Amino acid sequence: MSFGPDDFKALYARSADPWHYETSWYEARKRALTLAALTRERYARAFEPGCSIGVLTAELAARCDVLLAWDTSEAALAAAHGRMAAAGRDADVVTFASGWVPHVWPSGEFDLIVFSEIGYFLSRAQLLEAREHIAESLAPGGELLACHWRHPIQGGELDGDGVHRLLDAIPGLQSVVHHHEADLVIDLWSRVSDSLAQQEGLL
Ligand SMILES: C[S@@+](CC[C@H](N)C(=O)[O-])C[C@H]1O[C@@H](n2cnc3c(N)ncnc32)[C@H](O)[C@@H]1O
Repeated sequence: MSFGPDDFKALYARSADPWHYETSWYEARKRALTLAALTRERYARAFEPGCSIGVLTAELAARCDVLLAWDTSEAALAAAHGRMAAAGRDADVVTFASGWVPHVWPSGEFDLIVFSEIGYFLSRAQLLEAREHIAESLAPGGELLACHWRHPIQGGELDGDGVHRLLDAIPGLQSVVHHHEADLVIDLWSRVSDSLAQQEGLL
């Protein structure tokens, strides 16, 4: 069992900010932990699937030259776009688009993929497909950041720890940051070069 685009359309029809990104201390602290886990001051080209109303996106934009931010919900994307336009600064860094991952995935390489609070909305099979895309599109030296809630997700096949276990098994990734507490888990992996990965048995 997994979720589909209509689930999120209905969710945003009921609430403009279903996870309370704009008001919750838990979310603000989690965002600060997420941003602190990123090892570089700046990234050249980043991808954030499942950007919601763009609260994390706005913070990421300040550290990226180019940021693709996708979501399945048009309502969420409109809010995210409005937030960036109102902020003015960094607005031209972000390209928002509608897309359901892993069925669609952007072309080209990224030196940062932020997979935050989206993995358990995919079935196991969909997450395995997303893993293939991540492995193909992460540039050597690029970073994959994942952050997920650790409690069961009603209607989902995977919980946060299950998502991170599957991401941890992507060949050629090396763990750089692992932070877990009762409610959330954050991991950052770096893609080692193919030659180093072969030497170290990661490929
Ligand atoms: C919990 S929010 C995460 C927001 C942001 N990434 C963060 O961590 O602050 C999940 C968002 O992912 C979107 N979403 C869920 N499954 C998706 C999929 N397969 N493809 C694209 N967007 C998806 C939902 O519409 C929702 O806005």
